[in-house]
Amino acid sequence: MAFTPQFLDELRTRIGLADVVSKRVKLTRKGHEHSGLCPFHKEKTPSFTVNEDKGFYHCFGCGEHGSAIDFVMKTEGLNFPEAVERLAHDAGMEVPVDSPEERQRAMRRQTLYDVTEKAAAFYERTLRMPEGRAGLDYLRGRGLDDATIAKFRIGFAPDGRGVTKAALRREGIADELMVAAGMLIEPEGQDRDSYDRFRGRIMFPITDRRGRVIAFGGRLLADDEKAAKYLNSPETPLFHKGRVLYGLDHAVVAARKAGTVIVTEGYMDVIALSKAGFSHAVAPLGTALTEEQIGEMWRLVREPVLCFDGDNAGQRAATRAAERALPLLKPGYGLRFAQLPQGQDPDSLIGSNGPAAMADIIARAEPLSEILWRMETGGRLPKTPEQRASVQKALEDHARRIADSTVRGHFSRNFRDRLWVGGGKQAGSRAGRGGAVSLGAGAGQVDAGTVQEKILLATLIGHPGLYDDVGERLGNVAFLAPGLDILRQEVLKTMAGAEGLDSDGVERHLRDSGFSEILDSILGPDFLLNAFFARRDTDIETALEGWEETYALYRNTELRIEIQEEQQRLTDGMTPENFNRLRSTAEQKNEAMEGLPDTAFASVSGVATKH
Ligand code: UTP
Ligand code: MN
Repeated sequence: MAFTPQFLDELRTRIGLADVVSKRVKLTRKGHEHSGLCPFHKEKTPSFTVNEDKGFYHCFGCGEHGSAIDFVMKTEGLNFPEAVERLAHDAGMEVPVDSPEERQRAMRRQTLYDVTEKAAAFYERTLRMPEGRAGLDYLRGRGLDDATIAKFRIGFAPDGRGVTKAALRREGIADELMVAAGMLIEPEGQDRDSYDRFRGRIMFPITDRRGRVIAFGGRLLADDEKAAKYLNSPETPLFHKGRVLYGLDHAVVAARKAGTVIVTEGYMDVIALSKAGFSHAVAPLGTALTEEQIGEMWRLVREPVLCFDGDNAGQRAATRAAERALPLLKPGYGLRFAQLPQGQDPDSLIGSNGPAAMADIIARAEPLSEILWRMETGGRLPKTPEQRASVQKALEDHARRIADSTVRGHFSRNFRDRLWVGGGKQAGSRAGRGGAVSLGAGAGQVDAGTVQEKILLATLIGHPGLYDDVGERLGNVAFLAPGLDILRQEVLKTMAGAEGLDSDGVERHLRDSGFSEILDSILGPDFLLNAFFARRDTDIETALEGWEETYALYRNTELRIEIQEEQQRLTDGMTPENFNRLRSTAEQKNEAMEGLPDTAFASVSGVATKH
């Protein structure tokens, strides 16, 4: 089958090379490049690089080189058309079928593009004529220069029922096609004549990713309570509102360069942002973001920034967007949320405070996890166990909606850590950065480690029957808190030496051996609020489950500290030994996290209070 160059172009821009490659190769991002172990030859240190911007991979070891299509052909043993079809399928793109019906549909679409293009050109011309004077004055009044007007092809629809219709007829376009393209309204029923949809409005052409005009948004010259401020084209074979992002064609290149895309609410915001130097801005068309639009943005960048007004409506919209995105999250992809001052949109903010103020707000955008956290906590760490439990439940419900298990695990983990350790913002917390080893020193992680250590011991003391399952693992670790480590050894010794001792017996023995004070702190009702499963009246299966989860978290904390030390060593001396040690610890840490069931939350609920 022959593919058109346009289709192949579109495919190349849509698919992320790094995404394709990372299905086979574990990639690490370094600036604009990714690197990993070459899949085409055996190697121990990475010499395989992926350049997303240039769209090719290259191995400095064996010289393999190519595009995403080459990669799929070589690694999956497919021929060219097969590889193209595979990639198109993954990208959710339709492979053009070469059937007579499809050819006819394509011709029809082509004809409609011709209609919308001619209409756009007519509106642009009208803006420069006496009939368009009011429109031009309006745009000038809003600070737009000729270059910006030309870039966005802003025009004016004359005020009259048949002016556009007459102009397009003169260009040889049939009325029926004007209706199909959404330019005319056809009254139902009687034989009344079709008439211009857009009358006396500023016209913003809406384009597809390739810059072809597919629809229009028309704005009234003066706000009028009786008429809609903006009127959009209806759904047509070219235009599906929920799939389109205004400004995307201009934003693509800039977004790849900037590594992000700014998502705002309105036409004028995109235009004002572009004029102020933020070319990577897009907007949905007056509706909440759809799944398709989020998917479209993720094909471009990993973390789009959504802008919302600081007022209540804006916050509600942000929450809605966050909730919509949750089920779609996948490792490496997220959303950030920028909050504008109350009552401002990017257009008005840039107008009053300048581009730097806008840049500042974008730089301070927060990850999705932060929005959910703030939504449920109001930004303050809940104080009482009751409040914590309810917050945890709510956050847990959000996390559960994430379909991807890796991302879900990281969200759960992030929320739990924060409730546990003392909340506040976490250094380096990023939405959707699942899978990446976090090297940032989480504040209070030693605290978290200590709480976990205490829970591990309390659960075992409350359920000596767990000894067979957990004794060996507990024997192979060293607790960070020195007093606790001595207790750990004593508990193990006691249980190994006295089979059949019940919980009371173990506790009595430990108290007799001088551990009373520390036991008061870890077996007291206050502390056991942290981990209900540690209490001796909890059944043994639940206790074991709770112990396992806590152990997985504990190993993770422990390995994280180890990783930090090894990182430091590596900074001090860049030797292969140090590098390999770091890598092996990082792998162990990932394994430890895999031991954590996705539904872990429920049974550790309450592991939340700082001690
Ligand atoms: P806004 O009311 O925020 O308008 O609508 P705006 O974009 O800031 O426009 P200006 O600055 O007043 O000119 C945001 C978006 O919602 C859609 C449009 O896509 C608009 O850009 N909208 C708004 C409509 O579709 N119809 C309307 O009546 C109003
Ligand atoms: Mn506005």
